Amino acid sequence: MATSVTLGEFLLGRPGDFQYENTELGRLLNAIRLAGKVVSHEIRRAGLVDITGTIGSTNIQGEEQQKLDIFANEAFINTLTNRDIVCGIVSEENEEPIEIRGSDNRNRNKYVVVMDPLDGSSNIDVNITVGTIFGIYHRVSPIGTPVTTEDFLQSGNNQVAAGFIAYGTSTMMVYTTGNGVNGFTLNPAIGTYYLSHPNIEIPKKGNIYSVNEGGYVHFPQGVKNYIKYCQREEEDRPYRARYVGSMVADVWRTMLQGGIYFYPESTGKPHGKLRLLYECNPLAFLVEQAGGQATNGYERILDIKPTDIHQRMPFFGGEGEMVEKAMQFIAEAD
Ligand code: AHG
Ligand code: MN
Ligand code: MN
Ligand code: MN
Repeated sequence: MATSVTLGEFLLGRPGDFQYENTELGRLLNAIRLAGKVVSHEIRRAGLVDITGTIGSTNIQGEEQQKLDIFANEAFINTLTNRDIVCGIVSEENEEPIEIRGSDNRNRNKYVVVMDPLDGSSNIDVNITVGTIFGIYHRVSPIGTPVTTEDFLQSGNNQVAAGFIAYGTSTMMVYTTGNGVNGFTLNPAIGTYYLSHPNIEIPKKGNIYSVNEGGYVHFPQGVKNYIKYCQREEEDRPYRARYVGSMVADVWRTMLQGGIYFYPESTGKPHGKLRLLYECNPLAFLVEQAGGQATNGYERILDIKPTDIHQRMPFFGGEGEMVEKAMQFIAEAD
């Protein structure tokens, strides 16, 4: 049940709490909150007007772009540009970083944003949850100079804030600034997000494993062994299997119901599929802030220094003991 605290009020803060409303970070989170409402409104019309399906172009990853991929990308870029609140954006749908010089053309904004404007976009046409993922960093280049690629190639540890907007049965905005995770549900009739999930903590004992098992034969031996372990009749197993195919939805379920979500490397995908900057890092930050763990099978996602803005990374995230168990199987098979 939603409380009567709204996201706007939450950003204002209570005496003694962090107050974001009048800070650049607060204004940036407000811009994201607004763009999320615009995208939510558009997605809710899918099937009624001609906004589903592909657009006929591919992105830098070679994926066919959906109409709503492009709509969401433009909604977030335009909102962040018009509000003059970031100096640059990396998006899944843009090959190169987008430079934003600001209304006075002086590069004075201090934050950069990485984003997956629409995650799980192959699920749009079948009415399944999709989402927007975002991560926020301080630029490392000096204020007053154009944004550089290095501003985006920071380890996830440097994230100032991260989160997602899920367009599911409800639209929700979930984010962290490093002080726990809070979730807000949109009341679409009045356009206001209410605090519905304060201080989210991943349940300690999970019994769900989530992976695209269609890739099983191509997984490393350690991952195969771990999957067999999940399925064995022993102690509290077999675990239940769930896989939406939208990372946002799979990770969100894991945060609320416990368990583990993973997208390993495979013979055809030596680094897995998920992108480090705008999929793995923001969701790893959330998972850790909710008391869980997120690794690439060997090391913490957030410790990895990116080398490329669109680089891919295996991802194992969820309840800590389950993630450690998966890592143990991987280490034993190596
Ligand atoms: P996107 O739609 O942003 O390109 O991301 C798709 C990702 C992610 O959302 C999901 O978990 C994964 O692709 C599903 O991939 P498979 O179909 O290989 O399981
Ligand atoms: Mn895509
Ligand atoms: Mn995605
Ligand atoms: Mn996407």
